[in-house]
Amino acid sequence: MRDPADAAAFIRANTTPVHPPLVPEIALYTADQITPLWQATQDALDMAGVEPPFWAFAWAGGQAVARYVLDAPETVAGKRVLDICAGSGLCGIAAAKAGAAHVSAADIDPLSLTAVGLNAEASGVVLDIRTDDLLARPPGPWDVVLAGDVCYERALADAVLPWLREAASNGALVLLGDPGRSYLPASGLERVAEYDVPTATELESADVKHTVVWRVG
Ligand SMILES: C[S@@+](CC[C@H](N)C(=O)[O-])C[C@H]1O[C@@H](n2cnc3c(N)ncnc32)[C@H](O)[C@@H]1O
Repeated sequence: MRDPADAAAFIRANTTPVHPPLVPEIALYTADQITPLWQATQDALDMAGVEPPFWAFAWAGGQAVARYVLDAPETVAGKRVLDICAGSGLCGIAAAKAGAAHVSAADIDPLSLTAVGLNAEASGVVLDIRTDDLLARPPGPWDVVLAGDVCYERALADAVLPWLREAASNGALVLLGDPGRSYLPASGLERVAEYDVPTATELESADVKHTVVWRVG
């Protein structure tokens, strides 16, 4: 699946375009269950130990950020926006729909980046898809940085949170959507909005997750 056309065919064959419950304006190629898709990904890549297919789900944190941006379009309208750890790209797609001047989406999973392109197309927007590892260098000149559900794992939280704080100290508005994950920091966050997000019980142990959009200071 080194060829993006193969990756796109794989995504189309193994997922269905669905409108996430909190953001029905957006269409995402989504899976019902994580394990069969994860196994299919390993088989297609002929590799063991691949990352789970995070891109095939609209995580609660991302749905909350996307809902906030769609309901408060002035947050992003006319601005340069980055969706970091984009997964399906739903935060960036919401920003583009809300009138952002330019939206970049970044993820380290190549399948995620193909999914972002398909999802953007299905939602009628165009995103700038970044294949480089943005967390490996200082944040660029974004006006707004969106991060949906990045505090579920210590290594990622340790890498992304200082980077988000640096972006904020450079003047960006940084919004983080989080449903109470283990590695959410206890300080340095300002509550902006909250939602009860319908979620798949296959992914979460509940069918609704109370989720907060935080401004990172
Ligand atoms: C739980 S998913 C959230 C996806 C999306 N933001 C949402 O809310 O639905 C976390 C994403 O972070 C990505 N990720 C993990 N480490 C990363 C890194 N170092 N740089 C960029 N993305 C990363 C994963 O590939 C995954 O797509």
